[in-house]
Amino acid sequence: EVRGVIFDLDGVLVDTAVHHFGAWKAIADQLGFSFTEAHNERLKGVSRMDSLNILLEIGGVTLAEEEKQKLAAQKNEQYVSKISTMDAGELLPGASNLLTELQSENIPAALGSASRNAPLILKNTGITPYFEAVVDGNDVEKAKPDPQVFLLGAERMRVPPEDCVVFEDAQAGVDAGRKAGMTVIGVGSPSDLQGAHAYISSLAETNAAHIRKVHEGRQT
Ligand code: G6P
Ligand code: MG
Repeated sequence: EVRGVIFDLDGVLVDTAVHHFGAWKAIADQLGFSFTEAHNERLKGVSRMDSLNILLEIGGVTLAEEEKQKLAAQKNEQYVSKISTMDAGELLPGASNLLTELQSENIPAALGSASRNAPLILKNTGITPYFEAVVDGNDVEKAKPDPQVFLLGAERMRVPPEDCVVFEDAQAGVDAGRKAGMTVIGVGSPSDLQGAHAYISSLAETNAAHIRKVHEGRQT
């Protein structure tokens, strides 16, 4: 039985990937190497510092810890300046309808995001009231693909992990959901995202009935 639904934030509920990408690209430009959308796939779902480490690896750049802290702070400043003017118009297709439907069916929702900026985004897009629990990058020590973020979300909803369905657009997140023992619906294509129980290209393609069907039909 589906007793809780856990949502990743960036790339599932809101279209922030473009802002993360722009802010990382500015850092790469500054350091003098190119950083493409394809490179950016590796950063999805990955914490801020881990993302910087991957970025530096792509550019073949080694920096001292202090310098890295400065760049991470600079990236975040640019990112926050973008999201501070966000509104409900930046919710992805289907997000609002699905949250409303789950609420009307009394299925609790939780957020399971790596982002420390998650509370600000929920507030600016007006969806905070839909969540029974919010778990973000401020709450966990172990980042995705570790299952901690989703397990904590289930715990805060008081729902067993095996009764939860996760929506994820990043490989690290799909892996985390599987490790948590949850049903995972990938938002994206099976070629970018391995191991999910089902795939959709946006939340507009799902609803409570579809979520139940995927959960009940899972083989693994
Ligand atoms: C999400 C995004 C990542 C981002 C991470 C940390 O998982 O997909 O691209 O690096 O959150 O976000 P933050 O807002 O804390 O830098
Ligand atoms: Mg994501």
